[in-house]
Amino acid sequence: MPTCERTKTGVPGLDEITGGGFIPKNLVLLTGTAGTGKTTVSTQFLYEGAKKYNEPGVYVTFEEPIDSIKSSCVNHGMDFTELEEQGKIIFVKYDPFHIEDIYELIETNIKKIDAKRVVIDSISALGLYVKETSEIRRMIFNISFLLRRLNCSSILISEIPPQQSALSRFGVEEFVTDNVIVLYYSRVDSQFARSVTVWKMRGSSHSSKMHPYKITEKGVVIYPEEEAIVK
Ligand SMILES: Nc1ncnc2c1ncn2[C@@H]1O[C@H](COP(=O)(O)OP(=O)(O)O)[C@@H](O)[C@H]1O
Ligand SMILES: [Mg+2]
Repeated sequence: MPTCERTKTGVPGLDEITGGGFIPKNLVLLTGTAGTGKTTVSTQFLYEGAKKYNEPGVYVTFEEPIDSIKSSCVNHGMDFTELEEQGKIIFVKYDPFHIEDIYELIETNIKKIDAKRVVIDSISALGLYVKETSEIRRMIFNISFLLRRLNCSSILISEIPPQQSALSRFGVEEFVTDNVIVLYYSRVDSQFARSVTVWKMRGSSHSSKMHPYKITEKGVVIYPEEEAIVK
């Protein structure tokens, strides 16, 4: 397998467990229950991408208001104001009353700043607006085709209900992505503990272990040398 230049994730420890970072122009499914840090990981990916690697990024939110995302970023040491002014980051809130415009909304904003990184937060939230599962699956396929066509390295967030063993809500998300990362929040004795695993990463060696991670004032930090205790 030829090695290629990797897309550095900007999340401490994540490059190590993914075999060097994401594969450029690939889609990564980031899945986990609410509160596991999916939004935090994804904002770190865009922030570091724009700041350190000069790769502009687009954040599409379906659910959480932009101001709420940005203010929790400030709590994690990431102020996007300057990057937005420089045209290196765009936050877009999806308008549920214009579902059919979603592809255009994504494409226009990517082209506006020549974005190399994209986050869709979350594709599960499509279920709030579209009732037909077949229609949602079609939309997820179309979004993934679009992101591939525009050569972006992207994170698709999928939020799964607690206690569910499936990787995604609609059972299709893991098939349109070559890479799947799962965030867990599980009980170990009398405490809850956070752990992360790289479920699949096509064409790359990667860790197959569960690694502990923390959500800190600097965002998510993964411990690649440690193994999580899971029962
Ligand atoms: N400064 C902080 N220090 C520690 N944990 C934090 C901090 N800020 C947020 N959190 C944790 O991060 C979680 C939210 O992360 P978020 O990325 O929004 O999760 P998700 O998008 O998966 O729902 C909260 O449940 C909270 O426990
Ligand atoms: Mg979130």
